[in-house]
Amino acid sequence: MQTLPSLTIGRHTVPYPIVQGGMGIRVSGAGLAAAVANAGGIGVISAVGLGMRSPYFNIDEKNPKTRQAEFFEANRLALIDELQKARTLSPTGILGVNIMVAARDYECLARTAVDHGINLIFSGAGLPLTLPALTAHRPEVALVPIVSSVRAAQVICKKWQRQFHRLPDAFVVENPQSAGGHLGAKVEELGDSALSPEVVIPALRRYLSENFDSPIAIIAAGGICDRPTLAHALALGARGVQIGTRFIPTQECDADWRYKEFHLHARPEDVVLVPSPVGLPGRALRNAFVDRVKAGEIFDEREQCFANCLQVCKFRDRRETYCILRALDRASRGDVDNGLVFAGSAVGQPGSQGHAAPKRIQPVAEVMAELVAQ
Ligand SMILES: Cc1cc2nc3c(=O)[nH]c(=O)nc-3n(C[C@H](O)[C@H](O)[C@H](O)COP(=O)(O)O)c2cc1C
Repeated sequence: MQTLPSLTIGRHTVPYPIVQGGMGIRVSGAGLAAAVANAGGIGVISAVGLGMRSPYFNIDEKNPKTRQAEFFEANRLALIDELQKARTLSPTGILGVNIMVAARDYECLARTAVDHGINLIFSGAGLPLTLPALTAHRPEVALVPIVSSVRAAQVICKKWQRQFHRLPDAFVVENPQSAGGHLGAKVEELGDSALSPEVVIPALRRYLSENFDSPIAIIAAGGICDRPTLAHALALGARGVQIGTRFIPTQECDADWRYKEFHLHARPEDVVLVPSPVGLPGRALRNAFVDRVKAGEIFDEREQCFANCLQVCKFRDRRETYCILRALDRASRGDVDNGLVFAGSAVGQPGSQGHAAPKRIQPVAEVMAELVAQ
């Protein structure tokens, strides 16, 4: 096998072509992001819901509606804390932040990240059509939309070029057939080979090289967990990979140890699709919570929307499904029975060339060394 190439996105270069996927809530915070950056990849903090478990906010379950304005301010302050902590842990590493377009405080979080020295912004769960306007005063910040189709990438390129005279520095192409978290496709589209990386990555590469002179890197995401799956993505035409699930059972991952252990002991057959209040399917580990959601039981009358956090939310608007902030937060705090534990389909998989699935919680540096080993 060949030596891996370095990865350049905009003005930032890292020794290894590995981006750690942003994982909320507080699964990838400063600890995991800094460790990946220190090991030669790009570390990414997920900005979603950081206010939840911060000194700036406490849910008042008796009177939840009174707290909505405070929640966004808590998210902003907690993001600043997380960015400063990551920079202290990794003074020279390349650090990104992942911000969901679907979040109502998206613009505030993007501006905050830029003003506090972040190197890159990754943005999905919707098309980040206004992102260049939010970051125009800091052109050194690389902008990386997350897409699942060539069509979505085309819409972003055309709009950014026309309105902002700027193009993305890279695209993350997330494979909905295998990625963890919210998926960029409906359930009925999931078997469609048109969304497979074998089709989307070469087609996107062709579109970018035929239409633009500037280098726009493609980063493949979903199901990448070892050197062979990484090499396959590069062979398709990606310049790098984004990896989420494989970084969860690590010492530096910011979730509770029970969350990491739950991931560590999960088998491939535990990975299921689950409906989410944003209207997209998510990929997660089966547990009592998922069973209740699937049985249509989960909505708890006593819980009310306290944050008004999403642009579209079935829980807030129709009293259906569940509060995703609470569900993700419960899980990453260690309540893996009653919380939502997102996971990609690479969980517990032996690698494609007989590499063993992880057997213990490892330091990030060891996982990185395994990913890049020849
Ligand atoms: C626990 C978990 C949380 C995630 N949270 C987010 C998120 O907040 N924003 C986002 O864009 N993607 C999120 N993702 C997707 C990852 O960033 C990554 O693209 C995806 O998991 C790649 O697939 P893999 O897990 O098979 O490596 C999440 C994934 C997981 C497993």
